[in-house]
Amino acid sequence: MEEKKKIIFSGIQPSGNLTIGNYLGALKNWVKLQDKYDCYFCVVDLHAITVRQQPKDLRRRTLEVLAIYLAAGIDPERNTIFIQSHVPTHCEAAWLLNCFTYVGELSRMTQYKNKSQKYSDSGDPISAGLLNYPVLMAADILLYNADLVPVGKDQTQHIELTRDIAQRFNNIYSPTFTIPEGYIPESGAKVMDLQEPTKKMSKSSGNPNSFILIMDPPEVIRRKINRCVTDSIGKVKYSDDQPGIKNLINILIALQGTTAEEVEKKYENLGYAEFKNDVAEAIVQELKPIQDKVKHYLENKYYLEEIYKKGAEKAHYVSNKVLRKMQKKIGFIPPAR
Ligand code: TYM
Repeated sequence: MEEKKKIIFSGIQPSGNLTIGNYLGALKNWVKLQDKYDCYFCVVDLHAITVRQQPKDLRRRTLEVLAIYLAAGIDPERNTIFIQSHVPTHCEAAWLLNCFTYVGELSRMTQYKNKSQKYSDSGDPISAGLLNYPVLMAADILLYNADLVPVGKDQTQHIELTRDIAQRFNNIYSPTFTIPEGYIPESGAKVMDLQEPTKKMSKSSGNPNSFILIMDPPEVIRRKINRCVTDSIGKVKYSDDQPGIKNLINILIALQGTTAEEVEKKYENLGYAEFKNDVAEAIVQELKPIQDKVKHYLENKYYLEEIYKKGAEKAHYVSNKVLRKMQKKIGFIPPAR
């Protein structure tokens, strides 16, 4: 008999155009893992509205993220690909789990602290959704009894919280949820900002020169890498004293599977210009075929629709069983048939 595959859940928010950080920290690894696992890959649009979105941009980006999943190599025949808001169990489970999560835990999340600080500095109100966001993420993961959650480093704290919530629920009632593990890639787990290389590269940054988008045209990629901040040391070294260069080396490692030593050796007697040039070409080579496929998928909306329809049906079927279990354990009376 075929052995039951372990389960993976992961998602990306359509809250901005995806960056090479999203690609190297998450998507590229999903593609590698899809053979060995039973995977659920979600476009987490409910997460995206924790900050205000223009409706038409949200619609466009949701489909674009889906197209990027496919173009990067996620096979819709083998994986369940869906849009979060199409599967109502996520919101229902999130409410239940909210009642097993403490405000203190949520307000200690680094991402919440950073984002809420940013909003209060600019005088914008902070939505309760921003605080509760990791509970929705816990619902996403626990509803599928995921064993593994492949994400970038910035999400590890949310996965820890998911584990705590799951353990708490299991202890109060009886074993209900699988306790998930994070899967953080060895390289590419934290791609840094090109202008401030001590900060994480983020799709919500206000400065377009600080990130490379998956959909950036080749000439834009070349320009951004060419202008990225380095240092005056002038040696290609993998060192914390040279965060800009270290970041570019990490990008090369994640793209080409090379090592820091090999890169240092290759550029021992060469300047930054040549090194940057090669990094830019490596990125262009990786992204160009993906970009062409994305354009093709976006011209075939009907095909995308078929995929997210089928994905939502499967995701609803699987997650609804877990939701029912949660409701029963909590003590809700099942609806009369
Ligand atoms: P999001 O949309 O911010 O990012 C999507 C994925 O990209 C990774 N990532 C990075 N990796 C390396 N370097 C970077 N600079 C970088 N920036 C982003 C993130 O770690 C993430 O893996 N809460 C999640 C989405 C989510 C989710 C889930 C993930 C919702 N529910 C359930 C896993 C499981 C988020 O905001 O990711």
